[in-house]
Amino acid sequence: MTNPVRTTDFKDKKRRGEKIVMLTAYDANMARLLDRAGIDAILVGDSLGMVVLGYPTTVQVTMDAIVHHTAAVSRGTSHALVVADMPFLSYQIEAAEALRNAKRLMQDGGAAAVKLEGGKPVLDVVKRLVDIGVPVMGHVGLLPQAVHQAGGFVRQATTPREADELLVDAIALEEAGAFAIVLEAIPSDVARAVTHELAIPTIGIGAGPECDGQILVSSDMLGLFDGTIPSFVRQYAHLKETVVTATQAYIDDVRAGRFGRRTPLPDRESTPTS
Ligand code: KIV
Repeated sequence: MTNPVRTTDFKDKKRRGEKIVMLTAYDANMARLLDRAGIDAILVGDSLGMVVLGYPTTVQVTMDAIVHHTAAVSRGTSHALVVADMPFLSYQIEAAEALRNAKRLMQDGGAAAVKLEGGKPVLDVVKRLVDIGVPVMGHVGLLPQAVHQAGGFVRQATTPREADELLVDAIALEEAGAFAIVLEAIPSDVARAVTHELAIPTIGIGAGPECDGQILVSSDMLGLFDGTIPSFVRQYAHLKETVVTATQAYIDDVRAGRFGRRTPLPDRESTPTS
């Protein structure tokens, strides 16, 4: 595999017109598989709360949970850039706390960068983090951590005024030093305008094809998540059905006395020597 991807490669890729491809992961095995496939970057998203931990939103995700899963993903990754989400209220209370939490994600979790949600209200904290050498990915549009304020997971920037505000936020995040910005659930013409305006790459999710890169939640894209999947997600596999079918075959085998193995076990397990 080629050299590890760095945050500085993101801007170079945009300059060269190369699309950036990202997925989420939450454990070492999935990270290893995505890394082997050649993904550019893995986000340990706070979607962890919904797709792995069984919460209804991302609001319940804690620093401890994200650090634990980021460390697992880092252990499974050798090429992709690992970005860790800063959970709800881990960066908004005061800058010093945001710095301490970013420290945990990088030192204990092994992340190379952090992502945080919002525009104007988080600019100061983005500047502080970047000033001391923490690479920051921004996130505007639909902000899942603000789901209760937004009244659900609803599309954003659908009026000209909201679109202008989003553009102002994106420019301010670039000026604050963010190395890339996620654009979530916004109209594609708004995403195109933001992408055109910024020198740093935009990474879209439900924001149309003209962003500099794309990100999806891996278990949505693989058809593994057994819950509601956003309508813009293309499913490249249907692993949920595979898991149920394989489990039923195993249940049948065991119940029929076939013990789920094609070949009988030797009396004692031996380590292959050849
Ligand atoms: O938490 C997450 O998975 C995210 C992506 C959807 C961008 O923030």
